[in-house]
Amino acid sequence: MSSWFATHHPIESDLDVLRDGVLDHGRALAAAGRARPLACFLREDADIAAGAAGRIEHGRLFISHVWVEAERRNRGLGAEALRRIEAEASSAGCRDALIETLDDRVAALYRRLGYSSVAVIPAYVGPFTRHVLVKSLGREGAASPSPTTAARVAPLGAGDVSRYRELMLHAYAAAPDAFTSTPEERAAEPESWWLRRIADPTSGSQAFGAFVGDELVGTVALEFQLKPKTRHKAHLIGMFVRDNRRGLGAGELLVHAALNAARARPGVRIVTLTVTEGNAPAIRLYERCGFQAFGVEPMAIATEDGFKAKVHMWMSIEPLCAAP
Ligand SMILES: CC(C)(COP(=O)(O)OP(=O)(O)OC[C@H]1O[C@@H](n2cnc3c(N)ncnc32)[C@H](O)[C@@H]1OP(=O)(O)O)[C@@H](O)C(=O)NCCC(=O)NCCS
Repeated sequence: MSSWFATHHPIESDLDVLRDGVLDHGRALAAAGRARPLACFLREDADIAAGAAGRIEHGRLFISHVWVEAERRNRGLGAEALRRIEAEASSAGCRDALIETLDDRVAALYRRLGYSSVAVIPAYVGPFTRHVLVKSLGREGAASPSPTTAARVAPLGAGDVSRYRELMLHAYAAAPDAFTSTPEERAAEPESWWLRRIADPTSGSQAFGAFVGDELVGTVALEFQLKPKTRHKAHLIGMFVRDNRRGLGAGELLVHAALNAARARPGVRIVTLTVTEGNAPAIRLYERCGFQAFGVEPMAIATEDGFKAKVHMWMSIEPLCAAP
């Protein structure tokens, strides 16, 4: 006799039947699978103080846990654990390593350690974004990323006004089709305009900078709507990364910083942007971060090559704070 039952308290052995069944089925389909565990540990006397663990399967290292005990954090032990398990996997023939996290700051750390985002699922669980990252363990990928090429992102403040202005004037000239303003128009704006763009005292906008060392290499800004009927919307504008610093993840870090600021602002539920049709790197970046196109505005800007359309994109965000 057979019968279905549902339970909120499944017992371990029943769960094992499902898990083992799925794993066995998958591995039977992929004959060369044979998952093997791999781990590295920092032992302090009798205790484990840090480490990384995972499995090797099909030439890939799947990292499941990286851990450093609380009082030893912020000393580079997490990065060291990753480097060691990657090196071990590389000598065992793995071509790459895959890792996941729900913490934006941890994802940024992994990127600094040479991982690239291959999937970003916003609001995966509650307000948390799921990041899936991969790093090549080949000769190039296994090398530690140089601290001179790792980007970090921070909100800009009044003290950044002249370098922000210089970067944006360069952006309007270097990527004229990407923006609706010309360098001449913007060069004529007074310093007060730039200060408002960076951090509006009435909280109308906030800019973020991507830095490599102390150099401002990229930027993005958020414009918040202030009217009662539209203050659930924020608009992402002024996205630019210097040509020689592209492909390092700075663009993605900037978008995530802006999205986090939008999530942290009470009442904001939607982020919108426009991007020139055909700007494939930017559209890929926005889609990777969770934006979707909802329309195309024909003849939106006049460029040297004629009129170009603008793709309008949006994403809904899970607020970190309750709406007022
Ligand atoms: C759009 C723009 C901001 C992207 O900036 P970026 O810093 O290069 O963005 P990222 O580094 O996050 O991503 C770029 C690519 O590098 C890849 N990448 C990121 N980190 C990487 C790493 N560590 N190793 C290898 N590749 C990496 C990304 O996967 C992405 O690949 P894809 O284009 O094939 O999808 C930049 O091209 C730019 O400034 N363009 C001109 C201005 C513009 O168009 N602005 C948009 C206005 S709407």
